[in-house]
Amino acid sequence: MLQKDQKLCIVKIATIKKFIRIIIKKYMKSIIIYYSLTWFTKQVAEIIKKNLDSALLELKPLKEINSKWVWKYFWWGKMVMMKEKPELQEFNLDLSQYDIIILWTPVWAFSYTPVIRSFFDQYVIKDKKILLYCTHEWAYWKTLNQMEEKIKSWNIVMWKKDFNKNKLKNNDELNKIIKKWLDDMIFINL
Ligand SMILES: Cc1cc2nc3c(=O)[nH]c(=O)nc-3n(C[C@H](O)[C@H](O)[C@H](O)COP(=O)(O)O)c2cc1C
Repeated sequence: MLQKDQKLCIVKIATIKKFIRIIIKKYMKSIIIYYSLTWFTKQVAEIIKKNLDSALLELKPLKEINSKWVWKYFWWGKMVMMKEKPELQEFNLDLSQYDIIILWTPVWAFSYTPVIRSFFDQYVIKDKKILLYCTHEWAYWKTLNQMEEKIKSWNIVMWKKDFNKNKLKNNDELNKIIKKWLDDMIFINL
């Protein structure tokens, strides 16, 4: 059982975190740049958007990558292995408006997705604070390190985190986990 003082302390910390989150929302502009083939990364991005008031940029390939073809996983895996860069649909992005950039990719064949590779190729990110995330189902291996390698000479990578979809019980839990991440991230880095 928690003592009265401990409970008071927990309430105080929660209030401070809430206050800091409000300040960040107001004074630090963030954008989530992501790719999502199915729905999961998109769903996570929407939750962060709600919590941080972030802008969202969903990157999309010009030619639809999704397919009903039975060998599609091999095809997509091959795209990763061959380091292919599919052409992207046009997007408007002025990074000078943002203090924090959140880059999010699903893991494909233990790496980041071809669409994110195309983004790195097309867009130079400079002098930014960057948070790197990935969603996966079993193992992400070097995905986040590989992404960091791409951008770290020009930017500060503040936070790297993976998210295992299979460990998730329900949507409430997803909300809670993301709120906790944001709090930790805020406390450790800002
Ligand atoms: C082509 C392909 C390759 C994948 N490779 C991996 C992998 O190496 N490791 C892993 O844990 N999950 C892997 N996954 C699962 C996805 O990372 C996971 O389902 C992710 O949450 C999908 O995000 P999305 O719904 O936003 O597209 C792969 C999925 C696809 C389609």
